Amino acid sequence: MDNEQLKQEIVRLKKEKNAVILGHYYQRNEIQDLSDYIGDSLALAQKAEQCDSDIIVFCGVHFMAETAKILNPSRKVLLPDMEASCSLAESCEGSAFARFKAEHPDHMVISYINCSAEIKALSDLICTSGNAEKLVRALPEEQKIIFAPDKNLGGYINSVTGRNMLLWDGVCMVHDAMRAENVLKLKIEHPDAAVIAHPECNGALLKVADFVGSTKAMLTYIQQSGKKKFIVATETGILYEMRKNNPDKEFIVVPMGDNCNCADCSYMKLNTLEKLYLCLRDEKPEIVMSPELIEQAKKPIVRMLDMSKQLGIIK
Ligand code: 13P
Ligand code: SF4
Repeated sequence: MDNEQLKQEIVRLKKEKNAVILGHYYQRNEIQDLSDYIGDSLALAQKAEQCDSDIIVFCGVHFMAETAKILNPSRKVLLPDMEASCSLAESCEGSAFARFKAEHPDHMVISYINCSAEIKALSDLICTSGNAEKLVRALPEEQKIIFAPDKNLGGYINSVTGRNMLLWDGVCMVHDAMRAENVLKLKIEHPDAAVIAHPECNGALLKVADFVGSTKAMLTYIQQSGKKKFIVATETGILYEMRKNNPDKEFIVVPMGDNCNCADCSYMKLNTLEKLYLCLRDEKPEIVMSPELIEQAKKPIVRMLDMSKQLGIIK
């Protein structure tokens, strides 16, 4: 089948099977085009919770599909490629984290949604990059906190809130690899551009950014800014949405390293049209979890969604 036939088959199967496709902004362009909803991890978690289709095909990475299953366990949740992991989730293994937590019994645990269900089950509260700062600010000042698994996001929240959260030593392999020196070189080449960065980037890079925010916050910033040019320190997939919404503006990607001109998450890009088609046709690979794990992992996610509503971050 060529790409056009694959797309037609995906649309046909989706209807026949009463399925919905949820796609993250970092997915390949053609997958974003086929998605019923495109969003960042917070918006997609909310969509998954509200979804009444029989099947949810999650075009994103494993922890996102797992979150969808946790929030809506009666649906069949499919992920086109089970290997679509995340360096943050991989950095934080259950038994090592349980030991770390046991060493600090007076701390509450806030985990970034980019972690396994096992880590969620060990957490008191989940956050995303879109709500982390506000959720942390809403907690009593004297509350001691462990923040896992992203030390860059946690460090950024510490710096803007004045907290001293204990940080797990994990990073996003895409954002952490981007270097401040490369941003400065781009700034010299494009003095009229604003630098916008995702808080998963390292602290040195965040210091030279004009704006730091989640995927959604960056999209809003670009639309509201009078600037015409942006140096973008985040995953390449989001450029598709940025360009669609702002055809008159220019976007320059910060490369992941000196030998690489792109900033692609290799995990996110594992999902392809072929795999999406096969996944809908065969209804696999499917996310399967024990009811006990679902119940434990659900509590801190529901707490995040409830707090996000109370704080006016989501409706
Ligand atoms: P958000 O979708 O929360 O911005 O997270 C970015 C990311 O790295 C997803 O894997
Ligand atoms: Fe994980 Fe980074 Fe890829 Fe997001 S971009 S899925 S945080 S490795």
